[in-house]
Amino acid sequence: MAEVRNVAASMFADDVWSRSEEIFADLREVGAVHRTRLANGMPVTLIVRHREAQAALLNPALGKDADELRAAISTLMAGEHRHVSFSGMYKRNMLNSDAPEHRRLRKLVSSAFTPKRVEALRPSVTATAQSLLDAAQTRSRDTGRPTELMEEFAIALPVMVMCELLGVPHSDRVQFRTWTEHLMRDEPEYTEPASVAMEAYFTELIPSKRDKPGEDLLSALVSASVDSDQLSTEELLGTCFLLIVAGHDTTVNLIGNGAFWLLRHPHRWQQLARTPALVPRAVEELLRLDSPVRAASPRFAREDIDVDGTIVPAGDIVLICLGSANRDGEQFAAADDMRLSREVSAHLAFGHGMHYCLGAAQARMVGDVAFTELVARFPSARLAMGLEDVRRRASSIMNGLHRLPVWLQ
Ligand code: HEM
Repeated sequence: MAEVRNVAASMFADDVWSRSEEIFADLREVGAVHRTRLANGMPVTLIVRHREAQAALLNPALGKDADELRAAISTLMAGEHRHVSFSGMYKRNMLNSDAPEHRRLRKLVSSAFTPKRVEALRPSVTATAQSLLDAAQTRSRDTGRPTELMEEFAIALPVMVMCELLGVPHSDRVQFRTWTEHLMRDEPEYTEPASVAMEAYFTELIPSKRDKPGEDLLSALVSASVDSDQLSTEELLGTCFLLIVAGHDTTVNLIGNGAFWLLRHPHRWQQLARTPALVPRAVEELLRLDSPVRAASPRFAREDIDVDGTIVPAGDIVLICLGSANRDGEQFAAADDMRLSREVSAHLAFGHGMHYCLGAAQARMVGDVAFTELVARFPSARLAMGLEDVRRRASSIMNGLHRLPVWLQ
């Protein structure tokens, strides 16, 4: 198996995330499978080419069960003489379970989280996007400063959408945004209190939805029933957390990374402004080109697995690099170019197989609304930073920008 050259220095140096495109291009060149270490020292196997990534996402020998995954990680870390603490990410939910439990949870949740429900959100998502952009424009005019598109739009919009989806009352939304932002930070001093507060919040909200159901997803989940089976209170809590963890940062990064690419190529931004019908296809291309999720959530090898002639030993933790697979020249012609009308879309930005993103329809709808509103209202928008100042957030799973200052005009 190819070792990542100069592992610690190249994969986890402070500036690595801003250079990850070239690092993954190098890795794909060398082989489909590599060994490296995460920032906490844990050894992991990376799969970086499209064909092998797609096959791995379908391989039942790569397990996700929360307890077994935790045990596999603890064993590996003990071998490194390191202790590991587990974040809420390893809580039991459908993303952290295998068949048949996964099938049961997914069936129940998707019986309530329907495409019709997602489309019904579109008018309120559009109204929210418009009011955020109004506020951003006014603020920029008043202060003479560029809009901080991450803070004022890319982060703000998905939080509001999540509140609307789950039926979080308007009076609680500012607090909800703070918790969500803290949950997404990789620092236990933020994630732990936010997770405790949010759990307490949902523990109160769930019975209130039971007593007085609304039109929201949480009310629908509370009463969801398949073959007389229902979600327990603990499963409802786990599902609320999963929707927030899986649905927030990902959508933030779709808007942030996508706006960044379009603004780097202003003629593309203007092309979308002239031809809004292109937006849905552009969203697919942006998902492929600068994928919001760098790597699928960790899997563990239940047995020795052959990947492109390399044996990944039983017990290994495997990261399937979706962003890298989506830039594989063997799969996509001119993979590093942005082609807004590209037709082929075998991209893996939403994963593949049984854990394929349950919120893909919502993500596409929010992306559609966000880019449509941005380009239509501000056809001459431009970046207010040099490309050399662009910084990516440090994360082996998520791929997003710290800041995106923009002149909206
Ligand atoms: C651009 C936005 C999004 C991207 C790129 C994205 C990406 C992904 C990916 C790659 C997976 C599979 C992970 C794996 O196999 O380890 C996944 C799963 C999932 N996503 Fe998304 N996601 C997005 C938005 C959302 C939204 C908005 C929601 C919900 C409101 C959501 C809910 C879920 C859920 C529940 C799963 C687990 C499905 C399962 O285990 O069966 N996602 N997503």
